[in-house]
Amino acid sequence: MIPDLSVDPSGSSVDDRHRVPTGDTGTAVSRLAVVLGSARPGRFGPVVASWVTEQARRHRQVDIDLVDIDDHQAVDREAVAALGGRLAAADAFLFVVPEYNHSFPGELKTVIDRFTTEWARKPVGFVSYGGLAGGLRAVEQLRLVFIELLAVPVRDTVSFHGARSAFGPDGNPHQHEAARAALDQLLTQLAWWATALRTARRAQPA
Ligand SMILES: Cc1cc2nc3c(=O)[nH]c(=O)nc-3n(C[C@H](O)[C@H](O)[C@H](O)COP(=O)(O)O)c2cc1C
Repeated sequence: MIPDLSVDPSGSSVDDRHRVPTGDTGTAVSRLAVVLGSARPGRFGPVVASWVTEQARRHRQVDIDLVDIDDHQAVDREAVAALGGRLAAADAFLFVVPEYNHSFPGELKTVIDRFTTEWARKPVGFVSYGGLAGGLRAVEQLRLVFIELLAVPVRDTVSFHGARSAFGPDGNPHQHEAARAALDQLLTQLAWWATALRTARRAQPA
């Protein structure tokens, strides 16, 4: 059973322009920030992030804020504060991340390092893509980074190897049913942890 993810609406600082509609459930939802972690010209990442976001939207209990790190390379204070507000409002994070040289993109690390409490005591999941390794080495390194930031990486990962040929022109993976089932499981894990950790944060603020 998917847990009830009711939230206190007064805590939001999410810019509504970045919200993806959540469908017709009418249910109070958890806030999931989907973070697109590539910023390279000609990147493939938006295809993967778009599919992930669409699937998450169908997962009836989440309210989605899509954070594209390509929009957040500038370091002016207002922009950093605005992104910090969006991250602080999230109950869970789902990173869409490619593998670069057996790690994750430097642009993503720069954004992660700008924030601390915004990540802490919240669950983090990963959808990875890349060459033969499917981005999994990027994910393993990100797990270590997020443990240092007091976040909680969840067990499951969805990965796409040979990413450009794994998706069709319609933007869906060729193995759509298997990929969707894997992502649903990951989203359900994130939702469980989001509820548990939100309850714990409220009961015992850091
Ligand atoms: C600089 C660079 C390094 C890469 N290193 C790896 C790697 O170590 N392992 C791998 O499986 N794929 C590697 N790739 C392939 C990428 O993961 C793949 O092209 C992916 O689509 C890149 O994501 P993007 O297009 O969103 O930037 C590399 C690509 C680039 C540009």
